[in-house]
Amino acid sequence: MEELIKKLKELNQQAELGGGLERIKKMHAQGKLTARERIEKLLDKGTFVELDKFVVHRCSYFGMEKQKILGDGVVTGYGKINGRTVFVFAQDFTVFGGSLSEMFAKKICKIMDLAMEVGAPVIGLNDSGGARIQEGVMSLAGYADIFLRNSLASGVIPQISAIMGPCAGGAVYSPALTDFIFMVKETSYMFITGPEVVKTVTSEDVTKEELGGAMTHNTKTGVAHFAAENDTDCLLKIRELLSYLPSNNMEEPPFVPTKDDPNRTEMSIRNIVPVDPNKPYDIKEIILKVVDDGNFFEVQEHYAKNIVVGFARLNGKTIGIVANQPSVMAGALDINSSIKGARFVRFCDAFNIPLLTFVDVPGFMPGVAQEYGGIIKHGAKLLYAYCEATVPKVTVITRKAYGGAYDVMSSKHVRGDINYAYPTAEIAVMGPDGAVQILFSKEVAASPDPVAKKKELVESYRETFANPYRAAELGFIDEVILPEETRPKLIQAFELLANKRQSVPPKKHDNLPL
Ligand code: COA
Repeated sequence: MEELIKKLKELNQQAELGGGLERIKKMHAQGKLTARERIEKLLDKGTFVELDKFVVHRCSYFGMEKQKILGDGVVTGYGKINGRTVFVFAQDFTVFGGSLSEMFAKKICKIMDLAMEVGAPVIGLNDSGGARIQEGVMSLAGYADIFLRNSLASGVIPQISAIMGPCAGGAVYSPALTDFIFMVKETSYMFITGPEVVKTVTSEDVTKEELGGAMTHNTKTGVAHFAAENDTDCLLKIRELLSYLPSNNMEEPPFVPTKDDPNRTEMSIRNIVPVDPNKPYDIKEIILKVVDDGNFFEVQEHYAKNIVVGFARLNGKTIGIVANQPSVMAGALDINSSIKGARFVRFCDAFNIPLLTFVDVPGFMPGVAQEYGGIIKHGAKLLYAYCEATVPKVTVITRKAYGGAYDVMSSKHVRGDINYAYPTAEIAVMGPDGAVQILFSKEVAASPDPVAKKKELVESYRETFANPYRAAELGFIDEVILPEETRPKLIQAFELLANKRQSVPPKKHDNLPL
């Protein structure tokens, strides 16, 4: 028996060394943690249960039969985050550059299948040279097996990807199919083809970092949702994100008790929204004053900043917040912000997370680039997402709600449940200046004092339409509230809607405009 136990210990030690001390040192020198260290940091202490520790590849090309490393370059298993089960795989760059083999993929598929059976999130820590070149199509098949599972699991269990090293070629598509992508600044990159291939094909000179680094994907492409300072920061952020999410689509998000008074009023909110409709303000100031303990976990903070999305809690319960940002492009909806908002709304709806929408939107963004870029179909995504969402939807119009954008932003007409407006709200087809220009340009031109005439007409339009009361008369606004009462009003509304049940007609699946 002693001998047998010794052998098991040795095998365990061998597996835990991965590609060996030298390669581990190299990773540390680059400021990276190893796959196992990452898992340790990610999970609650001592909760990791490893599976398939002794799996090896079956390849016999290029002398591979002589190079078998226990675990084959990926550490897989399950554990707990804040006491709740999660599945995790961590690619080990010290073993064949973390490249994906047939057996490596099988290990990932096994935990994905288990995660689907028990209804727990999957977290993938990516750090890989891509498909294992020696395995050819076996490796490509492995990727496809993962992609299929990613798509089947979408909307059933939360799937989170962290990019903590290279992620190139086909490897990018598994993260792309998941719900959230975290990237680590300076040590991670994602691209379909690297700088050398880009140079050959298009003659463009670009560095790895510029082409697919963390900030590129967090600011330019919108592929990533979070940029972390380093490995540890990334893993802690994943823990935080999970604190807002249910484990699967049949569960409610976790309740986190708070000492923040549900009846707390905030007089200072009165002074945040300027009465002058052309003055910007930061919608995040209102969000922070309203939510529990001022905690707002922003998603895609650096991308399409004209819309703000993220998670928070009201009286202990998770909500997803979508808000126009008047301090960036006056909060107008463009292609990127529509896509950003739509994806977030659909995530929340899939995972039973009620939606709170703050509206201050002058309309969709005009311009040739926007029209040629397909703002019609991309704007339709956000509209579609709000229409199909059946979770509780509460809306606060803080100031402008103009044109089609009024309809889109969780209006009563797209099944908004409780729709509030501040007294500063202006709900109209367009702003007073534009409306007077279209309706009365002849009268203004013919007037002996065109400037005074225009001013008079603008004032009259403002009085008639640029307020919340026409919409309130028609019941499109349920209540005009004082800004300081926002928190208690929202908590009351979400409590009312806690057991809301609504459905969409049966169908194979929808046909979201893409
Ligand atoms: N298949 C098999 N082995 C791979 C691999 C792959 N796709 N990618 C990397 N490796 C191996 C390397 O041979 C090397 O092995 P060694 O330690 O025994 O020498 C080890 O992983 C580390 O790779 P290395 O190139 O030394 O690391 P690096 O940090 O300098 O570069 C990459 C990392 C990812 C940029 C580089 O390895 C690379 O370009 N890999 C191929 C990427 C690719 O095109 N993949 C296919 C796309 S689907």
